[in-house]
Order: sequence, then structure tokens, then C-alpha cells
Amino acid sequence: MIIAIDGPAASGKGTLAKRLAEHLGFHCLDTGLLYRAVARDVARRGFRLDDLWAAVATARSLDPAELEDADLRGTAAGDAASIVARIAEVRAALLAYQRDFSRQEPGSVLDGRDIGTVVCPDADVKIFVTASPEVRAKRRFAEFEARGMGVAYETVLADIIARDARDAGRPNAPMAVAPDALLLDTTNLSIEAAFDAAVGLIKRKIGHPGR
Ligand code: DC
Repeated sequence: MIIAIDGPAASGKGTLAKRLAEHLGFHCLDTGLLYRAVARDVARRGFRLDDLWAAVATARSLDPAELEDADLRGTAAGDAASIVARIAEVRAALLAYQRDFSRQEPGSVLDGRDIGTVVCPDADVKIFVTASPEVRAKRRFAEFEARGMGVAYETVLADIIARDARDAGRPNAPMAVAPDALLLDTTNLSIEAAFDAAVGLIKRKIGHPGR
């Protein structure tokens, strides 16, 4: 069984995907990490992020075992990922890995921007997670504050709006709601409430949201 979770930055989709995978005993892939790792490696090799040849070569040689890097989780890595993710050949190079991952037994949860539309169009359940840009910015801002990082709320909000526009506006596999996706708006939901709502959606769709 495949569960596809898509949505914009800081919508809570990553936490939700992890919680659902734990609950169901499924494999979990945060596909954003693949794009983040490509961007990291392009920069490490000394190339510009929009260098087509370097980005494609890096994506083709990416070792998905090397995603456990704390630096990949930051905002800068996310912004950089969003730039290499515009390149069609980069996306194509990462597609087979994602599809192979999704086919594992007993099931998988993948989260990203194009899982329900491109990577796993036949997923059993598709959930598109949203939240208002302001609430997403507040969540990110709170994370930065907790880590003692001095960033202005306005900067965080502007960054989120710019990232949404880049991810939704690109010609190749843009962030989009699949026609058969279920919408989950987490604007007024805690992580716990979002998880319960997602389990409810899955239950309604396939009838058995647990092991
Ligand atoms: O989910 P995230 O914030 O870690 O993703 C970082 C960037 O990677 C995102 O802004 C766009 C890109 N991305 C993508 O294009 N397709 C995916 N399936 C996942 C991420």
C-alpha cells in the first residue's frame, strides 16, 4: 500500500508522514531530502545550483544512504533544493529510486510535492496538507527561536511565500493537488490533531488505518 503526502514547506507533512509510517509499520521517505542532498553536493563540488550539467550529474550519482546529515534540515538547504528541483533531468534522475522505494512491503509513506501527481499517481491514498503561509511561518519562526537563531518573522514569511511560488510555478512536476487527493488543512490543528484527522481520512478511503 502506498500513501502519498504532498504539501508546501512547513505544512507539517513531514511530521505527519513519519507518524503515519510508524503507526502503520510502513517505510517512510522524505523525498525533499533527495533534492536537498543534490543541492548540497552541487555546492560542495563548487558549482552553481542552476548549473544544469553539474546538477544532473550529481543527481545521477546521488547515494540515497547519505541523507542523514543534520545540515540538510535547515532553511538554506530547503531553498537550495527548490532551485535544483526545477531541473527536469534532476527530477528524472531521482524518480526510479522514489518509485522503487514506494513499492516496498508492507507499505510506504512518501512525502514531497509531486508524489500524488508524478511519483506515485496510483497511490492508494493521497493527502495534500496545507496551512496558511502565516501559520507556517509562525511554526518555522518558533523552531528558529527555540534553536536560538535570530531571524525576523517577516523574513521567514517572505521565504515561505517565495518557496511556494517557485515550487508551484515551475513547469516540471510543480507542487499541485492531485485530482483524487484528500485535503488536510492544518492551520488550526496541533500535530496530534492533524495525525488523528489523517488517520480518519485514510480509514474512510481504505477502511483500515492501523496494523
Ligand atoms: O519538503 P522539503 O521542504 O524538504 O523540500 C525541499 C525542496 O525540494 C522543495 O522546496 C522543492 C523540492 N522538492 C520537490 O521539488 N519535489 C519533492 N517531491 C520534494 C521536494
